[in-house]
Amino acid sequence: MKLEQVLFSQGFGTRHECYGLIVQGRVAIEGQTLTDPWMDVDTNALEFSVDGVSWPYFEKAVIALNKPTGYECSRKPIHHPSVMSLLPAPLRNRGVQPVGRLDEDTTGLLILTDDGALLHRLTHPKKHVAKIYRVTAKHPMDETMFHQLLTGVVLDGEKEKVAADAIEQKSDRVFEMKITQGKYHQVKRMVAAVGNRVQALHRISVGHYTLSEELSEKQWCFIRKEDLI
Ligand code: URA
Repeated sequence: MKLEQVLFSQGFGTRHECYGLIVQGRVAIEGQTLTDPWMDVDTNALEFSVDGVSWPYFEKAVIALNKPTGYECSRKPIHHPSVMSLLPAPLRNRGVQPVGRLDEDTTGLLILTDDGALLHRLTHPKKHVAKIYRVTAKHPMDETMFHQLLTGVVLDGEKEKVAADAIEQKSDRVFEMKITQGKYHQVKRMVAAVGNRVQALHRISVGHYTLSEELSEKQWCFIRKEDLI
């Protein structure tokens, strides 16, 4: 792939801007500054740098973000900044977008990608991708509530029951719940349906991918699609 095309595909601006970055001597591979935009580059396991910042080449980007509270997942947020503002410009430019949504006050694992097929696969209701949430309830949870969550509850405004796939109790108010649907405010509505209330909600995992404890709030990292599904 031509060097100019590499930068363009990775979100470094228009073709003209990418051309400019190269001829201005701002792009390097393996420590060597490259000034020919038309130079052929092998993209396999490629690492390049722009203004000294190193980037891996990915045909499609898959990102894990540790979302803090106070950020909306919408591209056009209303009351709070968008999660997109936590990502560097090249990732925003190349069209990375959240896979599903977390509420403004929900923390934890948010996957973002510019891979349309992956996004579809992760969000399609028939694919039943598992998500695990750590729920802190306002009031103590009891056996009846857990039983109801596991056998199915009817959410307000809906007819069909939704059930948790698994629940692990951590303390009287804290439990981890695995669900495989992705309905609007699903966890909060399920907990409300058993007569309690969610005080804090944190997503631990999506598919096979679990949020690393090394990724602190607001931080993101590239991950592999194979780690997810
Ligand atoms: N369920 C909710 O209620 N909120 C979220 O942010 C995610 C799942």
